[in-house]
Amino acid sequence: LKFNNWDANMYNKGMLKDNCLTGKNFIITGGGSGLGKSMSSYLLELGANVIIASRNEDKLSKTVNELTSLCKNNEISYSVCDVKKSEDINIVIEDAFKKYKNIDGLVNNAAGNFISPTERLSPNAFAAIIDIVLKGTCNFSLLYGKQCISRKQKGKILNIIATYSYTGSGYVVPSAAAKGGVLSLTRSLAAEWAKYRIYSNAIAPGPFPTKGAWDRLFPKPISMFFDMEKRLPLKRYGNHQELANLSAFLLSDFSDYINGEVITIDGGEWISKAGQFNMLNKVPEKLWSLISKATRKKK
Ligand code: HXC
Ligand code: NAP
Repeated sequence: LKFNNWDANMYNKGMLKDNCLTGKNFIITGGGSGLGKSMSSYLLELGANVIIASRNEDKLSKTVNELTSLCKNNEISYSVCDVKKSEDINIVIEDAFKKYKNIDGLVNNAAGNFISPTERLSPNAFAAIIDIVLKGTCNFSLLYGKQCISRKQKGKILNIIATYSYTGSGYVVPSAAAKGGVLSLTRSLAAEWAKYRIYSNAIAPGPFPTKGAWDRLFPKPISMFFDMEKRLPLKRYGNHQELANLSAFLLSDFSDYINGEVITIDGGEWISKAGQFNMLNKVPEKLWSLISKATRKKK
């Protein structure tokens, strides 16, 4: 993995006040690796209790052992769960509310993805992604929301989507369709459940290097042809702490007037690919004088 060394020290600082999440409890799906692990680390540093939930028990227990070193009077624990199965989700939610009485936030971060021409996919391949990303997020949100409503407790749902939730994208069509659905779920629940003080927001990250994403989306034959980092307007990937800062803010009480929002954190990637004339970035400075002459009215 190639991380952005040149600015690593500039962007790896926590943003919120020490202990500002003490006494708060959060569930993070897919918290055993990648971005879920980074978000969990920062919530722990800020004093919260964190439950991470995913399929691979070995991965979860290693992460819990590693991140326990960040805890003071708080803790991290895990729940083995396949988000495709509503019975698994039910157990995670029930156990979590039994343990802590209140769960202040749920991060729907677990995902599955791969690149492929769509016509090469089987129906089962499509279903595998839709079931993890869309169905998993719907069911987790539903069962979490029901608990908050019946207990009359405030709650925060934070969905990790992708910028292709709103642009769409070829070659990751099941993921784009599922994440688009999650975006719509985010906005719909925000409107309906505001009356219960259940917030629903989303983060759309641009590229943040993780093993899970890079192994599947930028394997050797692809990374040989494209230098992803150079294609970015800021010429750097996101630093995990930048995303962790944003997620902690959105899960905290400091963001209590933000609801139904999606915040893009991609260094301007998607917008730079969308603007029709942004390719003019490639025009050398000297050529602009000639262009200027050619395009002005002749005197
Ligand atoms: C085509 C594929 C495939 C591939 C699997 N399938 N991999 N089809 N290309 N590369 C097909 C299988 O043949 C099968 O269909 C169906 O999908 C289910 O496959 P399983 O291996 O049985 O599924 P499962 O064990 O549930 O594993 C799910 C998975 C796997 C998604 C395939 O990759 C996984 O566990 N991923 C979790 C982590 C992950 O994906 N992280 C990346 C997130 S990055 P048939 O018909 O043969 O039965 C991200 C956004 C990034 O989401 C944006 C970056 C900028
Ligand atoms: P990752 O490390 O592969 O994370 C995916 C997580 O989902 C894993 O921890 C995995 O754990 C869990 N998971 C997969 N299938 C599951 C299932 N059926 N049930 C429960 N958990 C499951 O990849 P990542 O890059 O950190 O991705 C995290 C999130 O960020 C995803 O929503 C992704 O779409 C989004 N995102 C990432 C990027 C990026 O550049 N990295 C960009 C945009 C969006 P187990 O294997 O233990 O189940």
